Amino acid sequence: MILNTELEYKGNLFPSNIISYKKEGDTLFFTSQNNVVLQVTIQRDSVIRFRYTTTSIFTNDFSYAITKYASRGYNKLEITEDDQKYIIETAKLICYIDKKDMRTKMFDSKTKELICEDELGFHWEESYEYGGEIVKMTKTSQIGESYYGLGDKPVDINLKGKRFENWVTDSYAYGRDTDPIYKAIPFYIGLHHKKAYGIFFDNTFRSYFDFCNERRNITSFWAQGGEMNYYFIYGPEMSDVVANYTDLTGKPHQLPPLWALGYHQCKWSYYPESNVKEIANKFRELQIPCDAIYLDIDYMEGFRCFTWNKEYFPDPKRMVKELADDGFKTIVIIDPGIKIDMEYDVFKEGLEKDYFCKRADGPYMKGKVWPGECYFPDFTNPEVREWWSDLFKELVEEVGVAGVWNDMNEPAVMDVPGKTFPNDVRHNYDGNHCSHRKAHNIYGMQMARATYQGLKKFSYPKRPFAITRAAYSGTQRYTSSWTGDNVATWDHLNIANIQAQRMCMSGFSFIGSDIGGFAEQPNGELYARWIQLGIFHPFCRTHSSGDHGDQEPWAFDSNITNIVRKFIEIRYQLLPYLYTAFWRYANEGIPILKSLVIFDQDDQHTHYRNDEFIFGEKILACPIAEPNAKGRRMFIPRGKWYNFWTNEIVTGGQELWVDADLDSMPIFIKEGAVIPKYPIQQYVGEKKIEELVLDTYFKIGKEKSEVYEDAHDGYDYIKGRYSLRNFTLVGKESSLTIQQFKFGKYTTPYKTFELKLHGLPFKIDSVEVDNEKVDIKKLGSNGDNILIVPKDFTEIHIIGK
Ligand code: GLC
Repeated sequence: MILNTELEYKGNLFPSNIISYKKEGDTLFFTSQNNVVLQVTIQRDSVIRFRYTTTSIFTNDFSYAITKYASRGYNKLEITEDDQKYIIETAKLICYIDKKDMRTKMFDSKTKELICEDELGFHWEESYEYGGEIVKMTKTSQIGESYYGLGDKPVDINLKGKRFENWVTDSYAYGRDTDPIYKAIPFYIGLHHKKAYGIFFDNTFRSYFDFCNERRNITSFWAQGGEMNYYFIYGPEMSDVVANYTDLTGKPHQLPPLWALGYHQCKWSYYPESNVKEIANKFRELQIPCDAIYLDIDYMEGFRCFTWNKEYFPDPKRMVKELADDGFKTIVIIDPGIKIDMEYDVFKEGLEKDYFCKRADGPYMKGKVWPGECYFPDFTNPEVREWWSDLFKELVEEVGVAGVWNDMNEPAVMDVPGKTFPNDVRHNYDGNHCSHRKAHNIYGMQMARATYQGLKKFSYPKRPFAITRAAYSGTQRYTSSWTGDNVATWDHLNIANIQAQRMCMSGFSFIGSDIGGFAEQPNGELYARWIQLGIFHPFCRTHSSGDHGDQEPWAFDSNITNIVRKFIEIRYQLLPYLYTAFWRYANEGIPILKSLVIFDQDDQHTHYRNDEFIFGEKILACPIAEPNAKGRRMFIPRGKWYNFWTNEIVTGGQELWVDADLDSMPIFIKEGAVIPKYPIQQYVGEKKIEELVLDTYFKIGKEKSEVYEDAHDGYDYIKGRYSLRNFTLVGKESSLTIQQFKFGKYTTPYKTFELKLHGLPFKIDSVEVDNEKVDIKKLGSNGDNILIVPKDFTEIHIIGK
C-alpha cells in the first residue's frame, strides 16, 4: 500500500483481517484481529449504515440528525461468504466486505454494476491532543463521476475537484468559494453511469470532504473526532437518494402555514413602531402582496432577548394586533447570547438554574455579541431546551408574534478567537457529555429546535414558523432557513440560486436568500432580477443590513416597483402549486427545487448546469443574473416546454436563447402540466377562494399533475382533512381528456375550476363532463379556451372539430 499523500501519511492505522462475524437482527458485526469492529445495519433495502470502532467497544449510539420516524425494514437480507469476502444482499444492494482488510464494495443488486468502492477504506490516526481518533474514509471515484450536495456551499453545483470543511461559521459578506459558512450538512451524492448514491457521514465534529481534489480518482471524508459512521443510500435515481436521506434525517414535522410561503419584508432594523407601520401601509397602498414583517435586534431593550424597547415599541401587543388586522404576521429575531445583567430575568433564571455553557474547568463561557458580554444557554441539554421553549409564552401567546427568527447561532461570538466558542466548552449533548468540538455543529440546530418547540406549544392550534441561520443535517424538521449575510452583487444572485438548489438537494427545502443582498445596496435592476429568482425560492424574503439605504420594493423607481409587484403577484398566484410541492416534500422528502441533474440525470448535459432549475414538478425557471440583459442562453432539459409568457413551445435537450427584458425572466411550463392558481391577494386569506384556476398545457400523450390543499393552517389535515386532486391529462390530435382522482376529507371553499387550455391544437367542438354532453356556453366558455367546470368532475372529454 502506498501512503505518500498528505492524507495517508505514516500515522495511519488500518483494520486487519476479520476474525469473527455475528448477526443480531438487522445488524451485522465484523471484528478484526486488531479489535476494529465494523457494524453494518440494514436500514432499508437501499440504505445501509456502516459504523466502525477501533477499540472493540462502541460508545452510546446517539444522533441529533437521525429522526425516530426514519423508515426501517427491508424485503431481503442474505449473508453469504467465500474465501475473500462476506456478501450482504438486499433487494437493492449487494455489499462485499473484504475479509483481509474490511474494505467494502457496493453493487446494484439487479444489474450487478459497481456503485461505490473503498480505496483505502476506513483508517484512522490517534488524536494525541484530545484522545480518540481522527477517523478517515477514502473511496475510489468512478469514471465520469460527479458530486453534489453538502448544504450551503457557495460554489458550482458539481463539487468535483474541490475540498470542503464542515464547521458552521458566521460568515458576513462571504463570497464564492468561501468555506466553511453557516451550515454543516455532511451529505453528498455521487453520480456515474446514470446511477446515483448518497453518503451521509453523521459525525458532528469538524469534518472534511475531498472530491478528487487531493488525488485525482479518490473521494475521501474524515473528521477530527467521533466515529466513522456513515449511511450509504442507493438511488439509482438522485431524487430517491435525496428522499431517502430526508427520510433518515427528517421531513418538516408539519406543513408551514400558507402565509409563510408568501412574501416577507425584513430589514435591520425597522423601528420604531411608526416606521414598521409606515412600511406595512406602503405595501397595502402600492398593492404589493406581503404576509410578514420582521423586527430585527433593535426591538429589544439593549438587545436583551425576550424584552421590548418600550420607547420604540410602547405597546407591542397592540401593534402586532393592528398589523395582523392588516394581514401582516410579525416575526421577531431571537439570538442565543443572553446579556450578563443581574437585573435581567432571563439571565438571572438561566444563572440560577445553571443553564449556561461552561468552559472545561468550570468558568462560564463568556463572549461578546450585540448586547455586550453574554452567557449562552446549553441547548444540548433537554432541560434547557424546555426552559427556552417556555420563554416564548409571552411573545407568542400574549403579544401574538407569529414566527421567530434565530440568528447568530453558529454560535457567533465577536471577541473570542475563532469567532465561536473555544473547543473546551462543555455540553450536555442529551446526556452524552462532550466538548464543543463535538457540539459546535449542532448548537444552532438545538437552539432552533428549542425555539420551534416553544412556538409549537404557544401557537397551537396554529402551525409554528421558525427560521435559523445555523444548521446541521436534520434541522429541516423544525425550521426554515436563509443563506446568511450575502452581498448585493450580481455574483451573489448566482450564488443564491445555487445555494437554494443545493440546500434542496441536501434535504432542506425551506430555504431562501436575503433578496437584493444583505450587505451593500443593489440598484433597481439587480433588485428586480433578484426578486424574480426569489419568488421561486420556498422562503421568499427581502432583507438588508440597512447600512446602505433602503431595500423595499418601492426604494428604486416606479418601473422597478411595478416589476417587483408583478413577480410577487405571480408568487401569490402560484401558492397552491408551491404548497403542493411543499406537501410532497414534507411527505416524501422530494426537494421543492430540483437542479437539472436531479430532473434528468441521464442527460450528461445537466451534470454541470448551475442556473436552471425546476420549481416543484412542472415549472422550469432560470434567473437573469447579469446587468443590461435582454435575455440569455439557457439549457432547456429534454421534453417539450411552453414559454410561460408567450405559450410558444420549445423542444429541450439543447441550449436556447430566451428573451427576457427586465420585466420578464425565462420561465417554462412542462407540456401536459396542470398548474393550479389562486387569485392575487395582498396576503394569504385576504380573499375567499371562489374558483381555482387550472392552467392546462396540452400535450400529445399522458401527464400527471396534482393539487394539494387544506385549511392552510392548523393540524386538521393530519386527521385527513385535506384535499388531494390528481389529474391525468391525455392529449390526442383532436381530443383532450382530463381525469380527476380525489382524496381526503377537506372541502375546498370554491365550487368550480376555471380550466384554461393552453396550446390546444384544435378548435373545441364539444365537451363532455362525466359522460354528459354539456353546452359549452353554459360552461362559461368565452371562446378563448376557458371552461368553467364543476370541481368534482371525474372526467372531462374535450373533442375537437
Ligand atoms: C446577522 C444576521 C442578519 C441580521 C443581523 C442583525 O448579521 O445574519 O440577518 O440582520 O445579524 O441582527
